Amino acid sequence: MSIIFDNEKKLFTINTKNSEYIFQLLYGKFPIHLYYGKPGGEYEEHKVNWIAFAPYYPEHGVEYTPDLCKREYAGFDNGDFRASSIKIRNANGDMSTDLIYKSHRIFSGRLELPGLPFADTAEDTETLELTMIDELTGVEVKLYYTVYAEEDIISRYVSVTNSGSDKVVIEKLMSLLLDLPDHEYDMISLYGQHWKERHFQRHPLHYGAQNVFSRRGASSHQFNPFIALAAKDADEISGNVYGFNFVYSGSFLDEVEVDQQGFTRVQLGLGEENFSWRLAVGETFTSPEAIMTFTDSGIGQMSRNFHKFVKAHILPPEPFAQRPVVLNTWEACYMDINENVLLEFADAAVDVGIDMIVMDDGWFGERHEDNAGLGDWYENKKKFPEGLKAFVDKIKSRGIKFGIWIEPEMVNPDSDLYRAHPDWCLHCKGRTRLESRQQLVLDMGNPEVVEYLKNSFKKTFDGVAIDYFKWDANRHLSPVGSAILEPECQGEAAYRFMLGSYELFRWLKETYPNAMLENCSGGGGRYDLGMMKYSTMIWTSDNTVPSYRIGIQHSSMLAYPAATMSCHISNHHNICNDPRQLKYRFEVALGGALGYEFHLPHANEEVKATIREQIKTYRKYEKLILDGEYYPVANPFEKNYSAYYYTTEGRDKFLLSFLQFSPEENAREITIPVLEANENAIYLEEFSGKSYTGRELRSGIKVMTDNTDCNSTMWSFILQ
Ligand code: GLA
Repeated sequence: MSIIFDNEKKLFTINTKNSEYIFQLLYGKFPIHLYYGKPGGEYEEHKVNWIAFAPYYPEHGVEYTPDLCKREYAGFDNGDFRASSIKIRNANGDMSTDLIYKSHRIFSGRLELPGLPFADTAEDTETLELTMIDELTGVEVKLYYTVYAEEDIISRYVSVTNSGSDKVVIEKLMSLLLDLPDHEYDMISLYGQHWKERHFQRHPLHYGAQNVFSRRGASSHQFNPFIALAAKDADEISGNVYGFNFVYSGSFLDEVEVDQQGFTRVQLGLGEENFSWRLAVGETFTSPEAIMTFTDSGIGQMSRNFHKFVKAHILPPEPFAQRPVVLNTWEACYMDINENVLLEFADAAVDVGIDMIVMDDGWFGERHEDNAGLGDWYENKKKFPEGLKAFVDKIKSRGIKFGIWIEPEMVNPDSDLYRAHPDWCLHCKGRTRLESRQQLVLDMGNPEVVEYLKNSFKKTFDGVAIDYFKWDANRHLSPVGSAILEPECQGEAAYRFMLGSYELFRWLKETYPNAMLENCSGGGGRYDLGMMKYSTMIWTSDNTVPSYRIGIQHSSMLAYPAATMSCHISNHHNICNDPRQLKYRFEVALGGALGYEFHLPHANEEVKATIREQIKTYRKYEKLILDGEYYPVANPFEKNYSAYYYTTEGRDKFLLSFLQFSPEENAREITIPVLEANENAIYLEEFSGKSYTGRELRSGIKVMTDNTDCNSTMWSFILQ
C-alpha cells in the first residue's frame, strides 16, 4: 500500500520507494501539508506563527489562517495572498473560491484524463482522490495523487465539476501545489530560444516569485516545463532535490514563490494568461497532470527517477526492434527535393549502412520555399511524377526504411486550404493575422479542421509504406481566437488547440501503428512529456553545432531520457571533411539516437568509410545509451566540457564520454570519477585494450584539455 489514511489523526501518508509525503486534515476540513522528503524524516507538526494582516475564519481562530499555512491546494480570495491554484469567476461575478474537504477514496490504478496525454499505470499504481467543495457555489474540486512507487514519482492532477446551479468560468487551474517549510534551495530551470533550447540556469531562491512559463501555445524553446529545487549543497551525486514536470505541450506556468515566512510554494499548471474555461452546470474539466519526485541523492538521481518513469509510463512502445539510423534531407537540400534526389540519397544511405531516409519539408503542394503549400498534403506531381506510392516503393526496394515530414497544425496563406477556408486559422476577428515563417496556425479546436487533416493524410498516405513521420510545428500561437467559439469562450481556444492536436496525434498513431513518430518544433520547441506520450523521440534542436549541442543535450537529460533525444551529425561548411571534426561530432551525437543530416551522395570516400564505422560503433553501444542508466559527472554550463557515462543495472559496462567545447591555451589534466564502478573489480577498456581496477575508475579517469574546439574521448569499460 502506497497510500495510507489514519482516520484518528486525519493523516494521509503517501509512500514511494525512497520518499514520503504527508498531509493532514485540520479540523477534518482543511488539508495542511506536513512533509515531503526521505521516508521517516522529521517534520514539524502544524502550527501557525501568527502574523498580522492575515485573515482567518472567526469560528476556527488563527490556527487555520490560510495565508500562513502549508496547503495542498489554494482557492482564490479566501485569505491566502500567495499564488492561488484555482481561480473561478462565479455566477455572481465574484472570484472567491473556498474549498473544504468533503470525502476521499483510495483506489488502485488512476484516473484517465479525457483528451490528454497521461502516464500509463503499472500493477502497483495507486491513487488518492480528495474531494473538496466550495459549499456556496457547489463547485467540486477533486485533487488526485497517483503514486508510481517504484520510480519515486507522485503525479498530481485535478478535476473541477460544476455541481452548482449556475455556470462558472475557470480562469486559472494548477495541477500541483507543494508548500515547503523553507527556502534554502537553488532553483534549476531551462531557458533558451530557437537554436538554443534548454540552457541550464541555477540560482538561489529569493523572496517573491521566480516563475518560468510559456504563453506561446507550445511548451516552447524559451522555457521548459521542467524545474527543480536543489538544496544549496546538492550536486550531481548528493543532496536533497525536488524535481517537477508537466505532461502537457501548450502554455504552462511553473510558479515558485517564497513568502513572508520563508515558505516556498511550488505550483505547476496551465498558463493562466492563455486559459479560461466556461463550465456549465454538471460539466467537469480535468487538468493535465504534473509530476514530482524527491531524492536525497543529488541531481543525477532526480534525472534517473524521471528517466525511469518516462521510459516505463510515458513513451510509446518502440515500433522497430532497433532504432533506425536516419539520413534526413533537410540540411543538405532544404526544399529542393524530388524523386531523383531522394533515390540518390537512398543509395548513398544503403551504401554506408544507414537504415532510413527521412524526406523532410518540400515534397507536397506548391512547397518550394517556406511561403506556400502548408495545408496541401498531397505530393507535388512535378517532383514525384509517378506519385508518392510508386516513389516510396522504389525507395523500399533498396532495402531501406522511409520517413516523411509533415506540419499538420499549420497553413500558409498561399495554399489551397487557406483559399478554401480562410477562417480555419486561429485569428481574432478584425485583427491582422500575424505571420511567422510566413505561416498561420490552424484552429485545431475546430473538429472540421482535424477531420480535414485526417482525410487528406489518409488520401495521401494510405497504402504507402511509411515507416516514420516527422511532425513539425514551426510557429507559436498569436493572436489566439477561434471562429467557432462564442465570445465568452474565446479564452478556450489555445487549450482546445492542444486537445485537437493531441487527437490528431492519437489518430496518426492508431491509423499507422507500424510507423514511428519523431516530434519537432523548429528543433526542440515542444520537448515535453505531452509530446513524448506520442513521439518515440524528439528532434533535440535545429542547432547541431557541438558547442551548443553539448549543453542542450546535457540539460535535456536532466528530465528526459536519452532515448527521446534525436542526435544528428550535420555538415555545415563541410566541416565533416575534417576527420577530427567528424569523430568529434559523432561522439557528441552518441548522447542519444544517432542520425545524419548532410549531403551524403556528395561525401568523399573517406567520410563514407568513417560513417560506416561509426554506425557499427553506434550499434555496439546503442542499447547502453538508449536503455542504460545515465550518470552526469560534469555540467557544461559550469565548466567548458561535459562528462557523463551510461551504465547497466548490473554495472558490468560503462560508456564514458568527455567532450570539451572551448579551446584552452594551456592544456590541463581533468579527472572524471566513475563512482558506480565496483571497487574490487577489473575492467577492460575496449578502445585502448588497457585494464583498469574499479578503484582507479572510482578515483577518476584522467584526460587532457587542449587548444582545439573538438577535443573528445570515449572509454568503454567492460567488467572482467
Ligand atoms: C524546422 C525543423 C527542421 C526542418 C524544417 C523544415 O525548422 O526543425 O528540422 O524540418 O523545419 O521546414
